Amino acid sequence: MQKSPTKVVAGNWKMHGSLEMLAEYVSVLARALSSQRSEATDRAMVVLFPPIGYLVPLSEQLRVCGLQDQIVIGAQDLHPESQGAFTGDMSGAMLRDLGARWVLIGHSERRQYHAEDDQLVARKAAAALAAELTPVICVGETAEQRDSGDAERVVERQIQAVAQALGAEGLQQCLIAYEPVWAIGTGRTATAATAQSMHAAIRAQLAGLTGETDNRIPVLYGGSVKAANAAELFAQRDIGGGLVGGASLDPQEFAAIIAAGDGALSADVTTR
Ligand code: PGA
Repeated sequence: MQKSPTKVVAGNWKMHGSLEMLAEYVSVLARALSSQRSEATDRAMVVLFPPIGYLVPLSEQLRVCGLQDQIVIGAQDLHPESQGAFTGDMSGAMLRDLGARWVLIGHSERRQYHAEDDQLVARKAAAALAAELTPVICVGETAEQRDSGDAERVVERQIQAVAQALGAEGLQQCLIAYEPVWAIGTGRTATAATAQSMHAAIRAQLAGLTGETDNRIPVLYGGSVKAANAAELFAQRDIGGGLVGGASLDPQEFAAIIAAGDGALSADVTTR
């Protein structure tokens, strides 16, 4: 498993893309990164989560463009069982076979449209670890939950469910992505201060759960991250990087977000 002390910049393509788009995307991204990254001392770790069917074409294209060592690929979901009569589903081992090394778990769109609850999310996280995939556990409150003052309680409960299933050691192999539901795809980013305040609460919870104080579990922010706000978000003490949806579909924009992550050391390093 790969964990990084530097910022993590992850692109979630959701159900977007095509073979044609993919080929163009990777070559534009490769050009943009080669011109901007030569001087970066600490590079952000870059991860792309394409739709499952594009895992193999994407890794081939990354190889063609010389990005295979710079970009990790991951899946957007997995089934909690390792095999069986589950039509349409993919196991962690299958995703690994296809080149995935990371996997998103419990994205709010899965929670909303596929009725995934905290228990299922926890089972999926355990399945990911069993398949040697790095889980990115997505958590976040809805607008109503924030308005009624429940935001921290909701996120704490979501993390607690995973912690209970995985134990401290398992939790330490995950990343957390805090994605307030009201900020996803809405253009309404949480202010850096709002995000930082939730990230500090998450860090305190993680420290309590694992006993660790060196911030080894990266906590990413997601929700309308773009080139224009990435640097400010990444400068926050407890923000370990970003999970980027819409803006990751434009390779120039995504390259600019990566640039904001390059050289921006996370709390992991500065506290060591
Ligand atoms: P967004 O999506 O950047 O389009 O808001 C983020 C996500 O859902 O991961």
